[in-house]
Amino acid sequence: MNPRTITLHDCSFSTYIYEEEIIARILMLAEQLDQEYADKKPLFLAVLNGSFMFAADLMKRITIPCEISFIRLASYQDMQSTGKVKEILGLNEDIQGRHVIVLEDIVDTGHTVHGLLQQLGDRGAASVEVATLLMKPECVQHPLDIKYVAKAIPNDFVVGYGLDYNGFGRNLRDIYKIVS
Ligand code: IMP
Ligand code: MG
Repeated sequence: MNPRTITLHDCSFSTYIYEEEIIARILMLAEQLDQEYADKKPLFLAVLNGSFMFAADLMKRITIPCEISFIRLASYQDMQSTGKVKEILGLNEDIQGRHVIVLEDIVDTGHTVHGLLQQLGDRGAASVEVATLLMKPECVQHPLDIKYVAKAIPNDFVVGYGLDYNGFGRNLRDIYKIVS
């Protein structure tokens, strides 16, 4: 496939992970979760906004009984993590005794997931795991145990497939990386 270059705000991005690869990786993740959570009736908690496409494509491929709910957290300012984690909004479910799987678009420094896991920790869930579409292992600043990673990437800023650059680019079918 020919690489494609786009401009969002003041930055250029070029195609990096094509839709076909994204979907193939999500299918593998779905099969793994189907096996490991059979009979556990997991509750997926998708972190908005970034995970909306990942959550939708993953859920379509999960075949075991499960629930999904959507939560919202601190937003990302420009290209740098602010390091501050806001409280969880929109968690109306009682997670007591539930097997929870947090769905994230990307784990960068890990501040967001770390803060989220701390807040979920005292709510009595039977288990809490994280499934993320992307992860930047070089950037993680917390001792996190992320069990489900669809793809690990280097420390490049990416957009598309739910991920944004200052609000734009979420609608792109492929994932693009910033042109350096
Ligand atoms: P962390 O708290 O540093 O791990 O960052 C997590 C959040 O920052 C993610 O949920 C994204 O919303 C955002 N983020 C991190 N890296 C990128 C990127 O490369 N592109 C777009 N958003 C990103
Ligand atoms: Mg996010």
